[in-house]
Amino acid sequence: MPERLRPVGIVGLGTAAGEDLLTNSDLEKMVDTSDEWIRTRTGIGTRHISKPETATSDLAYRAAVEALADAGLTGADLDLIIVGTVTPDMPFPSTACLLQSRLGADHAAAFDLNAACSGFIYGLAAGRQFVATGMYDTVLVIGAETLSKITDYTDRSTCVLFGDGAGAAVLRPVGEGEGILSTVLGADGGGGELLMQPAGGSRRPATHETVDQRLHYIHMSGGDVFKFAVKVMGEAADAAVERAGLTRADVDVLVPHQANRRIIDAAAKRLGLPEDRVVINIGEFGNMSSASIPVALHEAVRSGRIKRGDVVVLVAFGAGLTWGSAAIRWSR
Ligand code: UT7
Repeated sequence: MPERLRPVGIVGLGTAAGEDLLTNSDLEKMVDTSDEWIRTRTGIGTRHISKPETATSDLAYRAAVEALADAGLTGADLDLIIVGTVTPDMPFPSTACLLQSRLGADHAAAFDLNAACSGFIYGLAAGRQFVATGMYDTVLVIGAETLSKITDYTDRSTCVLFGDGAGAAVLRPVGEGEGILSTVLGADGGGGELLMQPAGGSRRPATHETVDQRLHYIHMSGGDVFKFAVKVMGEAADAAVERAGLTRADVDVLVPHQANRRIIDAAAKRLGLPEDRVVINIGEFGNMSSASIPVALHEAVRSGRIKRGDVVVLVAFGAGLTWGSAAIRWSR
């Protein structure tokens, strides 16, 4: 292991989204809701929903291929694959292992992690350590979800929120002073019951009864999660900025988890950031959990909104409860 830690940056990005579009007017026909309620309370207009035959690894694969091409690499170059997801193809093997085979990443290790909507940031923090220490040179970090598979389309309080997608980032050593400057992770397991998929694990294995009771779907106490989110988003973003030795004024672009437009606006206000420095794509994609941040990040990079040298702050919160943030000096 080298004496000094190596700077690590994102050198390639890729994304994928569910194949079909689910609009607010589609939802008006499914549950007692309205386009007006959804737009004003959440900021969501559409979400991308995967076809019945599409699994999380399919979206992850499409995002990974694009990220590898963006980095000028192939699967054979990868040392490690980390997939953050709460909707794996199946409990085991891991989605990361399914991907490892499909990408021809023959010498790569692979694992999934579950930090819900904070999964990409947790993956970024984990992947960064492997490259920083010199254990690995090239790590693929993915946030990928098919939340539509665990969404109850008879529950109006949740079904209007979620969409399917994947975002992938390739991590490699970068120049001194560039790349990921800080990462912050947190958890409060005491709030676990606020957002959960109650059955299907060892506590309540799948039975006819659990299926009849709709316990394999997302259950959420929306108002409580909302309050937690507004508080933690500002605090976590500030912590990443501080740990990087920067101030709020140094932040060029904030890429927040896309859960609710009102949560994003409240966090931006708290941080004193004007709207033009905040990436928001919830209107098109809804909440894609761990995929939200890498998809929004990729969009901002592709459109030229993020340029080399910019300070980019990522911040997420999610089930667990979990939260995470990162400050990055964009290196490409
Ligand atoms: O990635 C992390 C995951 N989750 C989140 O971040 C979610 C955080 N929470 C939220 O985004 C918001 O709490 C929601 C969007 C889920 C709900 O918005 P809210 O402003 O907190 O609404 P509410 O739950 O307080 O409900 C207000 C009213 C209720 O009716 P009554 O009791 O006032 O008559 C709900 O039944 O709105 C009703 N309602 C709806 N009405 C139309 C709830 N969902 C809907 C709906 N359409 N889809």
